[in-house]
Amino acid sequence: MGQDAFMESFSSTVGIFQCKIYLLLLAGACLGLKVTVPSRTVHGIRGQALYLPVHYGFHTPASDIQIIWLFERPHTMPKYLLGSVNESVVPDLEYQHKFTMMPPNASLLINPLQFTDEGNYIVKVNIQGNGTLSASQKIQVTVDDPVTKPVVQIQPSSGAVEYVGNMTLTCLVEEGTRVAYQWLKNKRPVRTSSTTSFSLQNNTLHIAPVTKEDIGNYTCLVKNPVSEMESDITMPTIYYGPYGLQVNSDKGLKVGEVFTVDTGEAILFYCSADSYPPNTYSWIRRTDNTTYVIKHGPRLEVTSEKVAQKPTDYVCCAYNNVTGRRDEAHFTVIITSVGLEKLAQKGKSLSPLASITGISLFLIISMCLLFLWKKYQPYKVIKQKLEGRPETEYRKAQTFSGHEDALEDFGIYEFVAFPDAAGVLRYCQLFFLNEEKKSDSFCQALPLLTS
Ligand SMILES: *[C@@H]1O[C@H](CO)[C@@H](O)[C@H](O)[C@H]1NC(C)=O
Ligand SMILES: *[C@@H]1O[C@H](CO)[C@@H](O)[C@H](O)[C@H]1NC(C)=O
Ligand SMILES: *[C@@H]1O[C@H](CO)[C@@H](O)[C@H](O)[C@H]1NC(C)=O
Ligand SMILES: *[C@@H]1O[C@H](CO)[C@@H](O)[C@H](O)[C@H]1NC(C)=O
Ligand SMILES: *[C@@H]1O[C@H](CO)[C@@H](O)[C@H](O)[C@H]1NC(C)=O
Ligand SMILES: *[C@@H]1O[C@H](CO)[C@@H](O)[C@H](O)[C@H]1NC(C)=O
Ligand SMILES: *[C@@H]1O[C@H](CO)[C@@H](O)[C@H](O)[C@H]1NC(C)=O
Ligand SMILES: *[C@@H]1O[C@H](CO)[C@@H](O)[C@H](O)[C@H]1NC(C)=O
Repeated sequence: MGQDAFMESFSSTVGIFQCKIYLLLLAGACLGLKVTVPSRTVHGIRGQALYLPVHYGFHTPASDIQIIWLFERPHTMPKYLLGSVNESVVPDLEYQHKFTMMPPNASLLINPLQFTDEGNYIVKVNIQGNGTLSASQKIQVTVDDPVTKPVVQIQPSSGAVEYVGNMTLTCLVEEGTRVAYQWLKNKRPVRTSSTTSFSLQNNTLHIAPVTKEDIGNYTCLVKNPVSEMESDITMPTIYYGPYGLQVNSDKGLKVGEVFTVDTGEAILFYCSADSYPPNTYSWIRRTDNTTYVIKHGPRLEVTSEKVAQKPTDYVCCAYNNVTGRRDEAHFTVIITSVGLEKLAQKGKSLSPLASITGISLFLIISMCLLFLWKKYQPYKVIKQKLEGRPETEYRKAQTFSGHEDALEDFGIYEFVAFPDAAGVLRYCQLFFLNEEKKSDSFCQALPLLTS
């Protein structure tokens, strides 16, 4: 771009810029007077003073400044409240003690505010100078009583049974106008659902039927344009359970529902379930065909001398006397003369052994195959040979391991072995992590592996 062309474009830009400034000045002169209000809606409290702020500005020389306040309610004629010229105020004598203005400040003070003062307030400013300029604004005023702290009532106050009973929470506010209600559960808004509904005003919350999930800290939040209050926390009483019944012990080895205890040891069982009100627990022992209740309460102590040398079945019953529901957990106690620690260690050392055996066999077979392949080249011959053989050969190999798919089941197994009086491993149970895979083929192989 040449020097001249650059200068030409520069000067034209400056020209546009100057033009814009000139237009702005012109517009400002045309507007002349500007009246603004910080907010178009002002919420007032009954009985208190309300201040309606107004700002105005103008750019012409003025001789007289006139300010007029009018009031209008829907479907009525606007009413004159008060006006001023320069600094002298001319009130409507009917309201002279209620409205105050300090010209040239155009803001209006209403004191005291009544419900009848609700409506639109119009302020008009006239400037007399070289001609007359005028502008106006409208402010909407609402009048409310602040809300008082709400109180929540629950029906029925005695509580409700899960899946049977219903519950209604009612929010009561003594004072306050235009009250909006909101329900909070654990500080979060409650939403309508298949079991939860609100009244038309939202002041009642209805739950039908109640469930355990409805338990929580409920509050009612009430609001209006001038205030906000929250009730105290209410916790509805909901009877439920028993859920998640469990039996645990202070010592012994627990596998599934089987507890294994050393002889001579005393073992303490705990029965627990989630329920309201708390469950009553009872313990039942089963021997042969007879069952009898041996204890009430959440704990049961069993001394191993009292247990026969064969597995004994127990039942813990949990009963909720309000919901009328019950649950029971069955478990078996087995006494062993072998130290449990030793047994556990054996269990751990055996499982890698099974895996190692599997891997070794796989490697041996692989090596054999490789050897065969190398020996019987070309390829087609070996293929025919293998097709005739592998089934039987693999089978043979697997019988050694006593375990099908030894490689697939590679993993850590937990197992319990119950020695007889002589301390010889007689039978065992293998608990795979996958319940369905309980297998006894492994156990048959056990003597082979341990010997
Ligand atoms: C208002 O004030 C201006 C100048 O301050 C004066 O010229 C004018 O006469 C006054 N108007 C009235 C009605 O007092
Ligand atoms: C008008 O008067 C109120 C006090 O009554 C004051 O807070 C406000 O700033 C004044 N407004 C102007 C534009 O002077
Ligand atoms: C008054 O306004 C007229 C035109 O509206 C203008 O010619 C005159 O100069 C103005 N006078 C002053 C003092 O601004
Ligand atoms: C609970 O409410 C349901 C539906 O609202 C009603 O059919 C049932 O009778 C109520 N049950 C009780 C115990 O009030
Ligand atoms: C409910 O409130 C109580 C105290 O009033 C508090 O201990 C409990 O943790 C609260 N529960 C929830 C779910 O916020
Ligand atoms: C009631 O509450 C729901 C949501 O909680 C809300 O959408 C609805 O507008 C409320 N109704 C009233 C009348 O306040
Ligand atoms: C247990 O009871 C059943 C019938 O209820 C009976 O057939 C069986 O023989 C009984 N067993 C023992 C060990 O008493
Ligand atoms: C229910 O059981 C509790 C103890 O868990 C007991 O205090 C209460 O009296 C029982 N109620 C009834 C109706 O049996």
